[in-house]
Amino acid sequence: MLIFETIKSLQLYLSSFLGDNKIGFVPTMGALHQGHLSLIQKSIEENDVSVVSIFVNPTQFNNQDDLLKYPKNLSKDITLLESVSCDVLFAPSADEIYKNKLESEAFVLDGLENQMEGRYRNGHFDGVGTVVKRLFEIVNPTNAYFGEKDFQQLQIIRKLVEKTELKVTIHGCEIIREADGLAMSSRNVRLNKNQRQESTVIYKTLRKVKRLFLTKSIQEITEWVSNEFSKNAEMSLEYFLIADEQTLKSINTKELNSSCRAFIAVNIGDIRLIDNINL
Ligand code: PAJ
Repeated sequence: MLIFETIKSLQLYLSSFLGDNKIGFVPTMGALHQGHLSLIQKSIEENDVSVVSIFVNPTQFNNQDDLLKYPKNLSKDITLLESVSCDVLFAPSADEIYKNKLESEAFVLDGLENQMEGRYRNGHFDGVGTVVKRLFEIVNPTNAYFGEKDFQQLQIIRKLVEKTELKVTIHGCEIIREADGLAMSSRNVRLNKNQRQESTVIYKTLRKVKRLFLTKSIQEITEWVSNEFSKNAEMSLEYFLIADEQTLKSINTKELNSSCRAFIAVNIGDIRLIDNINL
């Protein structure tokens, strides 16, 4: 696997793939796990060359403590990337991406940016949009792969590409889970043994919501979820809602002819976990 730290060296290498070759791209913040690897494997299958970026993007962290504690393990990441035969790793510094201006652009994306994570993490999607747009301009990929684990982020990137007319096709990839259902996340390594056990409640709740959705009203389901978490001393529920997949606006009545999803954000100690399920 080739490793580049500068834009210039990466672009020089990728210039040999201009023409009919397909460039696949998977942006990440490192601390890689099987969820990331599933995206990378898809990219490798569908493209002539695959680039993975590892960059812990400071502008998307609304909480400095979360940024400082974000897990980092570049040598383990490199071993994992080599195990799936990834072609290229791009691991730039903050200066390389932001020059001397560590600032986000402000994005207006039909209101998608104001729902859920946008409401609870001030400036988060401006940071994500800024870095992803910059990375797309650098890599100029044919295809880019994002996980449904961050479903709102996936829809926001799709909208960003539509609005900026960037020539990249966005692919959404299914959520990869641990054997007990917990959605894989870089932050999971921060859970202690007890918190890790408790965290399985998140997906169990979503599975039950999916079953209840067949017979109960959205209000009844929302009340049930909030009640379940109020009994749990380890965890606090930040939000639970059922939203339209396209607008990401929460809905109060079941809609015919449109798909919806249940979304959840939970704090366990100082660790924040999100998950979702299609209904
Ligand atoms: P990160 O959290 O490292 O995730 C990188 C990609 O992996 C995202 O598209 C995310 O949705 C996907 N992913 C994470 N866990 C997954 C799982 N369990 N199953 C499937 N896919 C999963 O998301 C980011 O980084 C950043 O916001 C980024 C887009 C890189 C911009 O900085």
